[in-house]
Amino acid sequence: CGIVGYIGHREAWPIVLKGLKRLEYRGYDSAGIALINETGLNIYKKAGKVQELENFSVGKDLSGTIGIGHTRWATHGAPSDRNSHPHTSNSGKLSIIHNGIIENYATLKEELIHRGHIFKSDTDTEVLVHLIEEIYKNENTDLFEAVRLALNEVTGAYAIVLMDEDQPDQLITARKGSPLVIGVGTDEYFVASDATPIIEYTKNVIYLNDNEVALIKRDELLIKRLDNVIQTPYIQALELKLEMLEKGGYEHFMLKEIFEQSRSIRDCMRGRIYPNEGIVQLGGIKEYADKLKNIDRIIIVACGTSWHAGLVAEYLIEEYARIPVEVEYASEFRYRNPIITEKDIVIAISQSGETADTMAAIEMAKEKGATIFGVCNVVGSSIPRLTHAGVYTHAGPEIGVASTKAFTAQVTVLTLMAFYMAQQKGTITHSQLVELLTELDCIPDKIQKALESNDLIKEIAAKFKDSRNCLFLGRGSGFPVALEGALKLKEISYIHAEGYPAAEMKHGPIALIDEEMPVVVIATKNSSYEKVISNIQEVKARKGIVLAIVTEGDTEVRKMADYCIEIPDSSEAFLPLLATIPLQLLSYHIALMRGCNVDQPRNLAKSVTVE
Ligand code: G6P
Repeated sequence: CGIVGYIGHREAWPIVLKGLKRLEYRGYDSAGIALINETGLNIYKKAGKVQELENFSVGKDLSGTIGIGHTRWATHGAPSDRNSHPHTSNSGKLSIIHNGIIENYATLKEELIHRGHIFKSDTDTEVLVHLIEEIYKNENTDLFEAVRLALNEVTGAYAIVLMDEDQPDQLITARKGSPLVIGVGTDEYFVASDATPIIEYTKNVIYLNDNEVALIKRDELLIKRLDNVIQTPYIQALELKLEMLEKGGYEHFMLKEIFEQSRSIRDCMRGRIYPNEGIVQLGGIKEYADKLKNIDRIIIVACGTSWHAGLVAEYLIEEYARIPVEVEYASEFRYRNPIITEKDIVIAISQSGETADTMAAIEMAKEKGATIFGVCNVVGSSIPRLTHAGVYTHAGPEIGVASTKAFTAQVTVLTLMAFYMAQQKGTITHSQLVELLTELDCIPDKIQKALESNDLIKEIAAKFKDSRNCLFLGRGSGFPVALEGALKLKEISYIHAEGYPAAEMKHGPIALIDEEMPVVVIATKNSSYEKVISNIQEVKARKGIVLAIVTEGDTEVRKMADYCIEIPDSSEAFLPLLATIPLQLLSYHIALMRGCNVDQPRNLAKSVTVE
């Protein structure tokens, strides 16, 4: 979910509304805004997108210089007007927005009902605001203290912003496990789940830490920890630029982000590779350079697309650094009592740096003594602050919900990590490294070349757009590419798609193949080329429709496949970076032709801050 708050001298409505639009990628099941002016508290909320809220509020009283807003990804309670945030207390005076989950809400709710509270929604959030009011009423204390006391009774994760109709000179905000940023202006403050709604007003921000609660007045800010210790705010300057958050002439963020990949990968490598010298430098994990020489194992934890990047890393790290790697879904790993020792390195991969399951997996591994590296895109997010060391992907903000440029940047960083580890361990020769880095340095140009197939891909997409199922096959590091291709297609076009190791096809999916079944095959010229050709023949023998991703100039596969998309030749190590590009474009065009919302596919959210 996304949250925004404003207190200052300007009208709050336009700032909060625009902020919600910027944050909409975090969730878009429903939206709501609360404002206080001389007439009191006004709340407008609506199921659906922020646009629906905007349409609904035309002609209403939208004045006030203090306000909070929320865009929701439903957890408790179906997306509906009544379950949308902001929620109010029993008296209706306190209003709250909340991101996260209150785990003990059922017990608290029972107790509050017992005390005469009447609830208007099915959400855990409403319980929290009632609890705050109950304490405020009974403890004879100020509201800030009541919030602090209430939060001490709550288990779970939250980022909240609260207002009181009777005290329109203050916002109260707190965080635990869900991100929260405070923007510092002149006699005005902004609050948001990430910096994107704040950037056009101020570059000065404070990232609230877990277990902190802040009292924000127009000209005053007080931060305390939940245990009542006052904290000194640390103001940081944002490096984000406004144009990074806009579509820049593209029809969709996803398309813009796909086309940005040549640049984003170059940014990601900048200052980190020295091809002529054959050196990789990763400042973020430098401190652990010696440790890398003696580690027993690497465990990679991640979710979704980031997990696929982890699978690519497994191939690269084992191949070049000869360190055994396990790749785990964070959500499974954390609940399995896994064997972790102090000699393990855990690499957590996360675009947002906020995924709840990945964070929990890190905490568990840390407790057991492992060293944790992060590979994250959002600077200042929660995961980089939990890890011992790490390498940012520097892909710039990714707004499209389906990950594209963040994935290729993750793969790039992990490739660099594999080479770095190999360099430290001496499992790669200097001349090999010179050769690989020289080639890697040319990958951004090759990506640019791969993007030139866009028109052809659009034509092919037209043939596939009415399919109900689609199979993606690959071998070696082409297998995670197949998984990612399938995920992309199902996420945004709602066509059922599965990624499979090409050789495994005969143990099941082959039963699905008929003359209507499209099969996308990664069939580039590398060590498994001949084997993949056999797999294509198996598909063709059952009349499946084959779309092959092939190396430029290929003639063999072209004889068998129905459609071919060429990508530039490269070493196997860099295949995932190139082969992913046409698959992203394919999903994009298919989804568009099916009339789907490519940037905000149904039911999904970009940052999943609940487990
Ligand atoms: C969500 C997003 C995916 C993403 C996954 C992991 O499901 O929709 O695109 O891959 O979360 O997110 P992370 O930010 O940890 O990479």
